[in-house]
Amino acid sequence: MSQPGKVADGRRGVSDKHDVREGLGEIRDRTLELVSPLSDDALQRQHSPLMSPIIWDLGHIAEFEELWLVRELGKASGESALAEMYDAMRTPRSRRAELNLPDRSSVRERLRRVREAAERALETIDLSGPNPLIRDGYVFELVRGHEAQHQETILQTVLLMTSEPYRPGSRRELSTAAVATLGEMLPIPGGEFEMGAPEGGFAYDNERPRFRAPVAPFEIGRYPVTNGEYLEFIASSGYSNPRLWTETGWEWCTAQHLYAPLYWQPSGAGESPAAAEAAEVARADGLEGWMRRTSLGKEPVRSGDPVIHVCYHEAEAYARFRGARLPTEAEWEKAAAWDPDRGESRPYPWGNEPPAPHLANLGQIGFGVAVAGAYTAGRSAMGCEQLLGDVWEWTSSSFAGYPGFSPYPYPDYSEVFFGDNYRVLRGGSWATQPCVARNTFRNWDYPIRRQIFAGLRLARDV
Ligand code: AVJ
Ligand code: FE
Repeated sequence: MSQPGKVADGRRGVSDKHDVREGLGEIRDRTLELVSPLSDDALQRQHSPLMSPIIWDLGHIAEFEELWLVRELGKASGESALAEMYDAMRTPRSRRAELNLPDRSSVRERLRRVREAAERALETIDLSGPNPLIRDGYVFELVRGHEAQHQETILQTVLLMTSEPYRPGSRRELSTAAVATLGEMLPIPGGEFEMGAPEGGFAYDNERPRFRAPVAPFEIGRYPVTNGEYLEFIASSGYSNPRLWTETGWEWCTAQHLYAPLYWQPSGAGESPAAAEAAEVARADGLEGWMRRTSLGKEPVRSGDPVIHVCYHEAEAYARFRGARLPTEAEWEKAAAWDPDRGESRPYPWGNEPPAPHLANLGQIGFGVAVAGAYTAGRSAMGCEQLLGDVWEWTSSSFAGYPGFSPYPYPDYSEVFFGDNYRVLRGGSWATQPCVARNTFRNWDYPIRRQIFAGLRLARDV
């Protein structure tokens, strides 16, 4: 898996046109590979009001690339907005089924034509020039990261899809041998640390500017919370104990009849979502009572796997059940990035080296999570494991700009989402591409969302 080439002083970014082309090409090949097993019907249909028809994602990927790499770079026309149909703000997901979307072959053709034009534009520019949009390949990394993030969206849709089974083109077996001593909490010293992405190279506007963030001493889970641990919350009637939930969380829990993570099914209960009685039985039986739907089909819930597909409210209630809480973003990032020996923050938990298969479960390798403890080589200086990959981790922080934030290169990427409506998730999941996984990367979603590949890690005051 190729990584963004290193610009001179180790900042992220691409200074070589060959690397730019390769980076874009690799992500594109993967996008096409992900959708190739899908029937035309599965591509065009809206499987859930939460998601777009997958053909929309594909058309939107082409449209986004055309906007940034053809129209903006070439300044060919005065027009510089996404066409309404492919503008995520003007045409929300719930309305995308009504669109008259093109079919697979015309979208593929458009993807190809846009890429050709983008490569022509690349030929004419100077990646080391003064334009911040072009310097270090900024806009190319923007477009590559955008497509990579839509792959994850597509995989969420694929998992929600029930009209046909999904068979990925290729897949590698991940570690399932439980090695972790669970429940371990690690002390993190208090004090300021460098939070956010340094200047130069590529990062999203919301990761900047880097600043010194104060953090009080706290402790944090060595591993993400596992299914086996989460089952104890279910078995202790966590889903029927209002004292463990916030008021909003409890309202949501009762209104939606939540009883387990999304896709968990008490065995024998079929697909019925509110199988409360069967859930009661499964509760008594322990994990053998539960199956879960994954991207690859139904499988028994494995005790040592990080729990996935819980919403923020569930994550918070679980934390309270343990006498703990969710980490703030700053706490999470300090646990991931801070190198106390050098007194500086590092781009990845393990250091400066780009992600690789032995360091983190990223890049859709196994179409699911690996067991907790499977990536000791990827641990942070603070001792935390699996911070990147496997599951996104809910933090208690609302999505907001860092001190001195300014939108770049367009306000609709981050700024329009700032506010209390969204919670920040950190780390990246098994479906996240390495090019969008780093200690400073910030994801965000509504606290009720469960179709995203999200779990949690505990934190506690000391
Ligand atoms: C960062 C995952 C919340 O999907 O809305 C895709 C990424 N931005 N196209 C989203 C994104 C524009 C974004 N998230
Ligand atoms: Fe998008």
